[in-house]
Amino acid sequence: MKYLSFYEERGIEVVRAEDQYIWDAGGEKYLDFHTAHGVAFLGHRNKKVVEAIKRQLEEVMSATPAFKVRVREEALAALEKVLPRSHGYVAMLNSGSEGVELALKMARKATGRKKIVSFWGSFHGRSFGALSVTGNPNYRKPFEPLLPGVEIVPYNDLESVKRVDEETAAVIAEPVLGEGGVVPAKPEFLKALRERSEEVGALLILDEVQSGFGRTGEIWAFQHYGVEPDILVAGKAIGGGFPVSVVSARESVGAKMEKGDHGSTYGGNPLASAAVRAAVEVLLEENVPERAARAGRALKEGLLSLSDHRLLREIRGVGLMLAADLRVVPTNVIKCLQARRVLALRAGSTAVRFLPPYMITSEDVEWGVRALAKCLDEELSSRAPA
Ligand SMILES: Cc1ncc(COP(=O)(O)O)c(C=O)c1O
Repeated sequence: MKYLSFYEERGIEVVRAEDQYIWDAGGEKYLDFHTAHGVAFLGHRNKKVVEAIKRQLEEVMSATPAFKVRVREEALAALEKVLPRSHGYVAMLNSGSEGVELALKMARKATGRKKIVSFWGSFHGRSFGALSVTGNPNYRKPFEPLLPGVEIVPYNDLESVKRVDEETAAVIAEPVLGEGGVVPAKPEFLKALRERSEEVGALLILDEVQSGFGRTGEIWAFQHYGVEPDILVAGKAIGGGFPVSVVSARESVGAKMEKGDHGSTYGGNPLASAAVRAAVEVLLEENVPERAARAGRALKEGLLSLSDHRLLREIRGVGLMLAADLRVVPTNVIKCLQARRVLALRAGSTAVRFLPPYMITSEDVEWGVRALAKCLDEELSSRAPA
């Protein structure tokens, strides 16, 4: 039987993973700027997270939110320390897509409206609702017709803001497009979305599945902008490597949800709760956002030192969510980086994306930048006429 994999094979069998490194079956060590699509931001097998999950395994492993378990209460108390103060409700689910589904349902329920506005270049997940608001034609086309009532408009364009109107339940946006090319929102764009939503009674959903939980140098990327969402979706890093997502909502929005409006067998399970509680403790106790900001500045500086390279269009991003946008498709460069034991991933059609964990050192930065310099040179020479 074949595993139904939807991803290009990377040709590495991972046998060990610690902090910012992984090892393959041949014993080769890799610097991980891929972190399982950004999941292992707290490092692979973060010791505190692993310990918390192990301890929970000895106590209770399965219990839905219909049953009280202490660890879920503790996770909630921990989340309260990092979620917006105005948010009175929180739910735990299993993946980013699932979080987006709940956010969309909440917006419809709370407003009684149907229309959702989202953006070209965005990525919100593969389930039908999340895919319906994802602005990537390649992912959408094979599964159309998708959810009706979704209007997709250009990102970072003030004209788009006008499409949020009195019929709109919510506008959903990533503060930094991840999959779509690592494109930070322009401050005036995000502010205008916030203001317009308020003006017309629509809700602002911010999808921080990739940008959230310290990666950009703040706990949430929206903190760079001084705007707050009505509904926040977090995932990836928030479980320290354990599959879990978190959706929080303003008091007035969450209060509209009734018993039976949603559910998830594994949502908020004890192991996920233990992982979230530990991950929040690590985030706060180890000043993760600050360290990500510092490491991100060092990595960006290193990448910017290559700016004169003919194949490089732009270095962009914030904190440890960075990209080198190329003048060519990035496939060969990503392969070459892997051959030099540096793992990165693609974003958009031309960017090499770097999503390192927060503990990378100056030696790691040097390793990564040196590898990119060599790979850009290799790509250039492979393109030169013989
Ligand atoms: C911004 C954003 N939203 C949602 C998702 C979907 O998350 P998941 O793959 O956990 O369903 C992703 C995944 O990459 C993402 O980057």
